[in-house]
Amino acid sequence: MSMRIFLTGAAGQLGRELVAAFAGHEVLGVDIVGDVSVDITDRDALLAAVTSFGPDAVVHPAAFTAVDLCESEPDKAFQVNVIGTRNIAEAARRVGAPVTYVSTDYVFDGTKDTPYLEWDQPNPQSVYGLSKLAGERELDPGSTIARTSWVCGYHGSNMVKTILRLSREHETLSFVDDQRGHPTFSDDLARAIVRLVVDRRPGLFHVTNQGAVSWFEFAQAVLEASGQDPSRVHPISTADLDPPRPAPRPANSVLDNAALRLSGLPLLPHYRETLDRLVGRLTAA
Ligand SMILES: NC(=O)c1ccc[n+]([C@@H]2O[C@H](COP(=O)([O-])OP(=O)(O)OC[C@H]3O[C@@H](n4cnc5c(N)ncnc54)[C@H](OP(=O)(O)O)[C@@H]3O)[C@@H](O)[C@H]2O)c1
Repeated sequence: MSMRIFLTGAAGQLGRELVAAFAGHEVLGVDIVGDVSVDITDRDALLAAVTSFGPDAVVHPAAFTAVDLCESEPDKAFQVNVIGTRNIAEAARRVGAPVTYVSTDYVFDGTKDTPYLEWDQPNPQSVYGLSKLAGERELDPGSTIARTSWVCGYHGSNMVKTILRLSREHETLSFVDDQRGHPTFSDDLARAIVRLVVDRRPGLFHVTNQGAVSWFEFAQAVLEASGQDPSRVHPISTADLDPPRPAPRPANSVLDNAALRLSGLPLLPHYRETLDRLVGRLTAA
């Protein structure tokens, strides 16, 4: 059955894939810029937009996602990621629509030896991670939270595009070998989120592609997928990054998709499957 979906961040990396994945539904996609401009921190404008559309569900990936900038602009991070999400929760409550929020692996400190379960204790180490966790806590019971990691895709800037660009500009590339995670592709993620929304599944879900790698291993995989020699990539440690990045990253970002698995829901494919297709698309473009 077709649903009316109010979608934030519709011009973002994930938002654009969500617009495509919600084909067949009636979607009002808003962003801070673009065709329908709504700033989620503007409570009155957001309440008016949501109540006049009257959605069956609100899907909320909009965020201040510049992780390093969040360290120097904490007020903006908290305003967009927490107060913006508070406004979303209020607007959705007024129309009786459930919210699906997109969150992050950065809610964890990364010190665990094994993959993080949904019910592990968060302990964010960055302003961005803290603001996204605080956003989770603004939601009513019955909301859906999809925590994801290392998002890449056709739209927007992301690590696959960066690695391909660096491989054109430099003979050798250096990537850290002491941060591990699950690369996640925005189209696979969007399809999984659509399923959670359409099935009206409340609760916390880790939603990532399968296959854990370090950034070094991922960069090698990107070179391989584009027909280049993966030995051009060299491993370094986070401590070798010069200059160091302002926001600390979790060493272990690997999210066990336990809630999907234990609910009998399909897992996203192994990252290599989608990577090959994405690199093909990006290099053909
Ligand atoms: N990218 C990752 O690796 C990653 C990993 C884990 C979780 N996530 C989460 O996944 C979600 C989607 O990420 P993404 O990579 O698609 O991010 P993105 O490309 O930065 O998209 C976010 C969108 O939200 C918009 N936005 C920012 N402030 C806003 C405001 N005040 N009002 C309305 N819209 C606003 C942005 O507009 P402007 O660009 O014009 O500011 C942008 O279009 C986010 O919630 C993020 O925290 C991402």
